[in-house]
Amino acid sequence: MMEQGDISMPEIAWINGTIYNLFEARVSFLDRGNLFGDGVYEVVRVYNQKPFALDKHLERLERSLSGIRLQHPLSRIKLQSLILSLVEQAGFADAIVYLQITRGGGMRQHAFPVNSQATLAVFVAPAASPAKAQSEGVKIITLPDDRWAHCYIKSINLLPNVLAKQTAKEKGAYEAVFIRDNTLVSEGSSSNVFAVIRGEIITPPADGHILAGVTRGLCLEIARKAGYSAREEVVTIEELRQAEEIILTSTTMEIIPVVELDGNPVGRGQPGSVAVRLLEEYKRCAGDAWL
Ligand code: PDD
Repeated sequence: MMEQGDISMPEIAWINGTIYNLFEARVSFLDRGNLFGDGVYEVVRVYNQKPFALDKHLERLERSLSGIRLQHPLSRIKLQSLILSLVEQAGFADAIVYLQITRGGGMRQHAFPVNSQATLAVFVAPAASPAKAQSEGVKIITLPDDRWAHCYIKSINLLPNVLAKQTAKEKGAYEAVFIRDNTLVSEGSSSNVFAVIRGEIITPPADGHILAGVTRGLCLEIARKAGYSAREEVVTIEELRQAEEIILTSTTMEIIPVVELDGNPVGRGQPGSVAVRLLEEYKRCAGDAWL
C-alpha cells in the first residue's frame, strides 16, 4: 500500500478509498465483479495531465449504472475530483484512467445481495500510443455478433469481445467487427465503426446493439464542423464492403483508418483522406483537452 502524496508514484490504483501500487491492488474473491461480471466500467484518456471528455464518460457511466440497477457510490462531482487528484498524483502526461464499479461482495448468490457496498476501483496508467496504426491503417475481420441486447451498457462482461479480439489477432488483424444476422454492422470488439459511403460519413445508430462511444460522438461533431455530411444510420455488410473508407474510433485508438476488410482492400488500400482529416481535427480537440 502507498501513502497518498507519495512523490515517485508509478501506476496507481484506488479501491474504495485506499491507494495501492496498481500491481499490488486486490479486491475480494467474493466481489460480484469477479464472480458474475456484475459491474460496469469506463476508460478515459488523459492528454497533458487533463482528462479528455470526462463529463461525457461520467454521463455514460451513469447510464450504465442505471442499466444494471446499481446506485452510484459517489456523486459526479466527487468522482470527478477523485479522478483529477489521481491523475495529478500519478503524474503521467499521457495516460488512461480505468474506472470500475461493481455490486460489491457477499456470499455468492445470483440475485442482488441486500446491503452490499459497491466496489469503486480506479487506476491510472500510461497510455499506449496508437500512432503506428493511425499512420499505416489496419486490417479488420468480421465475425457474427453473439453478444446480448444491452450493449449500450459498458459492462465488464467482455468475454465475447475478448474472444473476437483474439480471433482477429490470430488472423493478423487489428480488430474484429461484429455483424448481426449476417447483415448489419454493429461495432468493433473495442471500438465503433464508421464507413464513408458516396462521400457521406455513416455510423450505425446508438441503439442497444452498440456502445455509444464517446469518441464516436465527438467524431460525428467534428465531422459536421469540418463540413462533412455525417449521420447515424444502419450500415450493412455489403455497404461496408463497398465503402470508400472504413474508420475505427475509441478512447484509446482515437481515429484509425482501416485498409483491409476480410482480406480485401478498402478503397485504395491506404488510409483515406476523411480518416486523416478527422484524426487531425480530433488531435486538435484533444490538445485543448476539455473536461
Ligand atoms: N472500449 N465499443 C466497444 C465495445 C468498446 O469497448 C469501446 C471502447 C468503444 C468505443 O467507446 P469510446 O469511444 O467511448 O472509448 C465502442 C474501451 C476503450 C476499452 O474497453 O478499453
